[in-house]
Parts: sequence; C-alpha cells; structure tokens
Amino acid sequence: MARHPDAPVGTLQIAPSILSADFSDLAAAIHSVDAATDRLHIDVMDGHFVPNLTLGPSVVAAIRRCSAKFFDCHLMLTDPGEYLGAFADAGADGCTVHVEVGGTASLIDQARALGLSVGLACNPDTPFEAMAPWLEHVDLVLCMTVFPGFAGQSFIESVLDKIARIRAEIDHQGLAVDLEVDGGIDHETAPRAVAAGANVLVAGSAIFSAPSPLDAARDLHAVAAAVASAR
Ligand code: DX5
Ligand code: ZN
Repeated sequence: MARHPDAPVGTLQIAPSILSADFSDLAAAIHSVDAATDRLHIDVMDGHFVPNLTLGPSVVAAIRRCSAKFFDCHLMLTDPGEYLGAFADAGADGCTVHVEVGGTASLIDQARALGLSVGLACNPDTPFEAMAPWLEHVDLVLCMTVFPGFAGQSFIESVLDKIARIRAEIDHQGLAVDLEVDGGIDHETAPRAVAAGANVLVAGSAIFSAPSPLDAARDLHAVAAAVASAR
C-alpha cells in the first residue's frame, strides 16, 4: 500500500531524481543518498508527451526491493490513466500527472482509488489559472522549472511568479499540499525557489553528477533551509 512521506507537509524536502543516476547500478545510487533524502523522484517519460523515453513499472518494482523511501513518480505521459495501476502495483507511493494532458478530475479519482498520494504538475508555460481549481484536490503541486524531457537544463526564472501565486493560494486556503519544483535546481536556484514558496526540491544533475551525491544533497538542503526558515 502506498504511503505518505515521513516529512510533514510543507517542510523542506530534497528529492533526488534518479534520472541523473548511474542506471547500471541504481541500487548503489539510491543508497548513496539515503541519509539525506525524504523521497526519491522517479521520472517516467513516454516519448510522446515529452521527447524522451526512460523507465517503466518494472524498474520501479526492482528499486522498490532496495529502498523504503517514498517513491515520487513523475509521469510525463500522454495517457497516465493507462499506467497508474501498474505503478501502484510496482510500489509507487505518489504519482504526479500533468495538467496539460487533461482528464484531471478522473485521473485524481483513479489515483486516490489506488491509494496513491496524488500530484499535479504543470509545464513552465502553463498558467496559474490552469492549476488553481485543483489545489484543494491534490497532495502535491509540481511546478516544472524546465520543459520536461531531459536532465541538466537551465532553470527558467519566470516560473518563480507562478510558484509564489500557488504558495499564496495554498496558504490562503490552509491546504495540506506540498509545492515541488523540478528542473535546474542547484545551489543558486534552490534558495530562489524556496523563497518563492517551494518546499520540495527535485534535483538530478546537482546531486548525481557531484563527486559525493550525499554531500551534494546535504548542501542543497542546507542552503535551502537557510531561506525556508526566514520565509
Ligand atoms: C526533467 C525531469 C527532472 C530532471 C531534473 O524532465 O522531470 O526531474 O531529471 O534534472 P536536473 O535537476 O538535472 O534538471
Ligand atoms: Zn521530474
């Protein structure tokens, strides 16, 4: 059965994206950051919603056997409803679908019925208004800070305004919703995203391309925590 993250809603969390890890030894990569992370971010791409292919439920099932962390599956799929059941069976804890694919109400219902924690993602050019109606229905909102498809891209600064608007709305309504950012998150950009209102930071290259992924994850948490405590 899917679980919720150990960290309370709204607290600062680092979510390493295994997209930038060594796929030939995922177990070692995952264990290397265990002590500094609250959740693992798993990027699933279908070659249609985004121009890249990554992994599917069988890989999630395989890494489920070597990690008890919260599995935060980011489904960059045109038809996520076709696969939610398979990801739940494989051991996903949360599944995030994109608002751009439509059918949001039924996807949320489907994910809930499967016992999943539910996330809703938006691309950098998708406006606040497309997300606003759904905030009270999800556990997590994911603001992409790059156009999804590849690790190692540059943070898109203009998304900060939308992050701030979503944070204001979450707080105004008193919602138990995490606000995640994904794409180009590093030492420079993490504090800016947190200052705008994000509390879950996905990082791929900044963690797994570092000499010590564990130190990199800890450092990212430290620079972001300094801003979070001042917010
Ligand atoms: C991009 C993915 C991200 C990506 C982040 O489409 O959703 O999770 O792996 O990688 P970095 O941190 O390198 O931008
Ligand atoms: Zn992602």
